Amino acid sequence: MKKTHALVVGNWKLNPITLKEASDLAAGVARKNKKITDAYVAVAPPFPYLSEVGKKISKTPTSLAAQDVYHKNMGAHTGEVSVLQLKDLGVEFVIIGHSERRAMGENDEDVAQKVAMVLKHKLTPIVCIGESKRDDKGDFFNFVQKQIRSLAKTLKPAQMKRVVLAYEPIWAIGTGKTATAEDVKEMQLFIESVLTKIYDRATARNVRLLYGGSVKPHNATELHQDGGMNGFLVGGASLKAEDFTAIINATI
Ligand code: 13P
Repeated sequence: MKKTHALVVGNWKLNPITLKEASDLAAGVARKNKKITDAYVAVAPPFPYLSEVGKKISKTPTSLAAQDVYHKNMGAHTGEVSVLQLKDLGVEFVIIGHSERRAMGENDEDVAQKVAMVLKHKLTPIVCIGESKRDDKGDFFNFVQKQIRSLAKTLKPAQMKRVVLAYEPIWAIGTGKTATAEDVKEMQLFIESVLTKIYDRATARNVRLLYGGSVKPHNATELHQDGGMNGFLVGGASLKAEDFTAIINATI
């Protein structure tokens, strides 16, 4: 993937509630973006819709993503989904460690294990990081640094280069409060400096960074142009093909 092109991923979360709606949404995204060449696009529907959504976007530039994965491939693990199953359905990206999953108990160790499994099978992990609140002293930077360090502990430079990091400040998710483009730029520089300290500049430069948190058609252009990141992870606005496409177009 060329880093000059943004990656825009739609995280549908627990939506929509019927297969028909999921299928129509996927068809809409595929239709509106069938000629796209200057951005990478992916949609992450709930597991039960992956197969149908995969069919709707097949032979189009839109890729398939999953919202989570288990760290084991097969066996007695009721309710889990493995990377081999995802791969078989044509999934290319896997969101890992979203704050909504971390809120249910997923920890840095779980995240690292999942990332290792996804990389092993040559899919691309999108690892979510981000603080729950901002403070004047800047402790939120330490929090983000800790999340990156804990991920980096288990990853060699060549592996880290294949990871996509999604900075999603929890206070901006689904709240309509967006980080300013300045906040995003500051975080981009900070994350790159942390990666440079842990690895080296070449590795840091290779890691693709996304911003997520109330990205909408009206703020996407500024966030993209001045935020310095390489794409977006979009929640609510990815549920309307038109809004999602407007966000994609804002990156071109
Ligand atoms: P919203 O765009 O709805 O704030 O969600 C962001 C998000 O959590 C994407 O993973």
